[in-house]
Amino acid sequence: MVTVSAPGKIHLIGEHAVVYGEPAIIASVGLRCRLLVQNSGSIIFRDGKSTEEFGIGDVLSFADNADLLWKSGFEKNDFSGLFELMKSEKSNFKKMAAGKVLKALKIKSGAEIRIESDIPAGVGGMGSSAVFAVSLTKAIAGLNSKKLSLDEINRVAYEIEKIQHGNPSGGDNAACCYGGLVWFKRSSPSNIIEPLNIGYELENFVIVNSGSRERTTGELVQHVRKLGESYRNPRIKALGVATSEMRDALRKHDFGTVKELINLAQRNLAELGVSTGNIDKIAKSVRDIGGAAKLCGAGGGGFMLCYCEDKKKLTGTIKKLGFEPIETALGVEGVRTDR
Ligand code: MEV
Repeated sequence: MVTVSAPGKIHLIGEHAVVYGEPAIIASVGLRCRLLVQNSGSIIFRDGKSTEEFGIGDVLSFADNADLLWKSGFEKNDFSGLFELMKSEKSNFKKMAAGKVLKALKIKSGAEIRIESDIPAGVGGMGSSAVFAVSLTKAIAGLNSKKLSLDEINRVAYEIEKIQHGNPSGGDNAACCYGGLVWFKRSSPSNIIEPLNIGYELENFVIVNSGSRERTTGELVQHVRKLGESYRNPRIKALGVATSEMRDALRKHDFGTVKELINLAQRNLAELGVSTGNIDKIAKSVRDIGGAAKLCGAGGGGFMLCYCEDKKKLTGTIKKLGFEPIETALGVEGVRTDR
């Protein structure tokens, strides 16, 4: 039996803009996905509520088919066909992820995978697919006595993320894999992934579930891509500039500026059409008490990041609106084997 866990992630700033080559700052969070894996003749997923079993050949051919759809989506700059396939059955993501890992690691044997996740399923914004991709890669490698470096795990997880989201930046899997606070920039031939060492713990942040999202990350990214360039580009650029300024402000422990930048990011993301009524309402209430709040990840619902020096007032304000603040550490350890 091998037990592996990886943390979820939260964008402090830079989501969506990061898809276009701007930087992002992404923090791992204290909520983890844990996988307990043992040998099996097939691929079995158990999550406490349900059990799903697939033949090894089935997961491999599903992954092959998804790869083909990804290639044609990439050529057309439209992944709708792939997204349709991935959404057609709830289990397709897990099936594809297992197939991709077996293919990448050239493994022909099965695994029984028990999933114990702190990250609420189907909410969005905390990198639930990335954390699963990262932990599954390490777990299946470990079960087959293959030692992978973090870079290798990250590479396989990114390939899984591409099938799930079309053309993601790779920032989510990087944060879940390496942990800590990550400065991420999409780049060729390989993405820039640097630890952002600020020398102190981030405090007075809380995470809030604004409600489940109706559109997937891939669809939300595609929505932004379809906005006219003259409308989209200035907002993407503004987010990029704000991300660089946030890095300076974090290094100087200047939370007045950090707050302004979080609120600026929320404004720009809302203008890109990825906010919701709930997110706008929570963000306004947090701003009204002198704090800052923004959606996280693709948006369209999902988790938000809220900050206020007066944390009690922050949690009270969020509760009064009928939402539950989650207090958790930011910048925790990345993927690891658990004993
Ligand atoms: C999703 O968590 C973050 C986005 O920027 C997409 C990506 O980086 O691939 C919206």
